[in-house]
Amino acid sequence: RDIPRLRDVFAADFPIGTAVDRTDTVGVPAELAVQHFGQITPGNAMKWDATEPAAGQFTFAEADALVSFATANGMRVHGHTLVWHNQTPAWVFQDAAGQPLTNSPEHKALLLQRLESHIRAVAGRYAAQIYAWDVANEVIDEYQPDGLRRSRWFEVTGLDYLRTAFRVAHEVAPNAVLYINDYNTHLPRKREFLFSLVQQLRAEGVPVQGVGHQTHINVERPPVAQVEQSILRFANIGLQQEITELDMSVYGNAVDSYATVPPEIITAQGYRYRDLFDVLRRNKQHLSAVTMWGSSDANTWLKNFPIPRLDLPLFFDEQLQAKPAYWGVVDPSRLP
Ligand code: G3I
Repeated sequence: RDIPRLRDVFAADFPIGTAVDRTDTVGVPAELAVQHFGQITPGNAMKWDATEPAAGQFTFAEADALVSFATANGMRVHGHTLVWHNQTPAWVFQDAAGQPLTNSPEHKALLLQRLESHIRAVAGRYAAQIYAWDVANEVIDEYQPDGLRRSRWFEVTGLDYLRTAFRVAHEVAPNAVLYINDYNTHLPRKREFLFSLVQQLRAEGVPVQGVGHQTHINVERPPVAQVEQSILRFANIGLQQEITELDMSVYGNAVDSYATVPPEIITAQGYRYRDLFDVLRRNKQHLSAVTMWGSSDANTWLKNFPIPRLDLPLFFDEQLQAKPAYWGVVDPSRLP
């Protein structure tokens, strides 16, 4: 408990955040979050399946609780996420008879209407509390010739779902910084597709104001220099950038599953976090925040992905104690 608070350690660099679900905001996990992190991103509570499970029926209890937690503890809130192909209820993409929407003009108008009313309700509700929104999540698919993910959103509306989402979010939450957020943005092919899309939308006047690099990486890949190249690629074109979902799986290529993660892997993770944060600090003028995708290894999505297995990707261990990952960014001289 007497260790340096991350929010102090990075005070001269960038706000440091963490993803939270409701269970992270009570008891000891809440103490950990408040001690170390200056902002939160709701991990699930603001997604469509959580906020509008049935048409026009909005459920904000969980999201409200997280916003109250943040406000009470002086933390900023990064909203996540308004339009995504996952965690979106089936009804959104169905007609009144339960049939899939097509790309007919009527269906396209219906889907854009649903998107608009969803964003009006969700982004409008938190306009005073949320400083940035991941408006669009994971819209790039670098295996498509044009780089655009063939989601239901895209199949029905083309790129209009993005135009609508950013326009409406800007209208109802004019002070929020509006992000397009994606994973593997360090991959050159994917990065260039994202870059082109952002440039195109901005040239049209669509208010895309930030690029979020999720940064779900592992102990082997990618080289931190590649992360830096992507930050530099988006620098100086009038955009903000954030590292939005950082974690580092202990699994590289060689091993599928550990019953116990070898200590040398945990140590190597500490050195790699050190190297990564060297890059992030050196580029702090380009970064509006760095958010960890969770506070401790007790609660990480990687325990369910890509298969159920032990994973220890964060700064604090399953007992909420500081790991080599923490010391790598706070005081590397303490690494074994
Ligand atoms: O809430 C239910 C619970 O009632 C049920 O008993 C339990 C059984 O599986 O599931 C719970 O829901 C889970 C939910 O997390 C809340 O814990 C879902 O199954 C599970 O799929 C869901 O996973 C989330 C994942 O997105 C789903 O897409 C992770 O928590 C969340 O961290 C993860 O976050 C995403 C970002 O939004 C976008 N970028 C990638 C990132 C990691 O996948």
